[in-house]
Amino acid sequence: MIVLGIETSCDETAAAVVTDAREIRADVVLSQLDDHTPYGGVVPEIAARAHLEHLDGLIRRAMGEAGIGFGDLDAVAATGGPGLIGGVIVGVMTAKAIAAARGLPFVAVNHLEGHALTARLTDNVAFPYLLLLVSGGHCQLLAVEGVGRYRRLGTTIDDAVGEAFDKTAKLLGLGYPGGPLVEKAAARATDPARFELPRPMLGRPGCDFSFSGLKTAVRRHVEELGGMAGGVLSDADRDDLAAAFQATVAEVLADRCARAIRRFKEDHPQGGALVVAGGVAANKAIRSRLSILAETHRMPFVAPPLRLCTDNAAMIAWAGIERFRMGESDPLNFAPRPRWPL
Ligand code: KG4
Ligand code: ZN
Repeated sequence: MIVLGIETSCDETAAAVVTDAREIRADVVLSQLDDHTPYGGVVPEIAARAHLEHLDGLIRRAMGEAGIGFGDLDAVAATGGPGLIGGVIVGVMTAKAIAAARGLPFVAVNHLEGHALTARLTDNVAFPYLLLLVSGGHCQLLAVEGVGRYRRLGTTIDDAVGEAFDKTAKLLGLGYPGGPLVEKAAARATDPARFELPRPMLGRPGCDFSFSGLKTAVRRHVEELGGMAGGVLSDADRDDLAAAFQATVAEVLADRCARAIRRFKEDHPQGGALVVAGGVAANKAIRSRLSILAETHRMPFVAPPLRLCTDNAAMIAWAGIERFRMGESDPLNFAPRPRWPL
């Protein structure tokens, strides 16, 4: 089975060709970073127009790299939500047009399900597994029991963790996109233990997250160090603060995961892997902290390769394959969904 996947829900335009034998035949991603950088964040209208401008060419490139024509496809999958609706519409309409013209099945994929199932594409992970899904818009702990069978063990009560990275980057004057820039700054820190930040929810019952207090604490330090109201932080202050922030996030995530592991094991005594997915899963400090945690609990740890952690279309094609082989597809009047909980 060969499926074309399309991803347009945020600021990456992406197309990929994937087979049910877990072969990624093509995977092209065009970042709109330069279009949004002057505004310090993603501008939905600009994103939608850029998707419209580039998607056709990217699909052609992916098909060319895969060495196939539309006639070789078994289905077309596109992100149907959640996300910035203008972009989602561009991807869904393009997929529907190809499906209609070629008489192919169309699968509307939940973007979060794309992240959630990536580890099955890259590492053939078996159900059930415990998933920490950490991206720009989401921060959840899920027991993944099957395709379409997700049990939520915890979620954020305020900011998503990627959002916390992005806001912290702004406070530190690092710019956009925040996650990778905070990680680079943290790696340059000369005194990473200099600042102690509060650890929201640490030790509290349940598996929920909270990051807004952490962001406020960073702001307070920045103010004290003279980095607000037109002032500029010294490089050393900035890098040490970035390191403190990143270490705190890693510790909070590990604490929440440890609780979720206990609950997961109660429900699934046969065990399962600890999987991390979503853009923040690209962070090496967080990956290594979680890998230690998994080892402590004697669970296999799976983190997809960095480029499949951030937004891409291979994960959408793969989720489409998983749904399609269960006999599922969507009608051509499927309405794009700005919100779509897993
Ligand atoms: O999954 P993703 O590409 O898009 C969403 O679906 O949200 O995640 C993007 C988020 C952004 O907040 C970005 O700052 C964060 O993932 N991110 C990182 C890193 N790379 C991306 N956060 C921390 N460290 C990174 N290396
Ligand atoms: Zn994403």
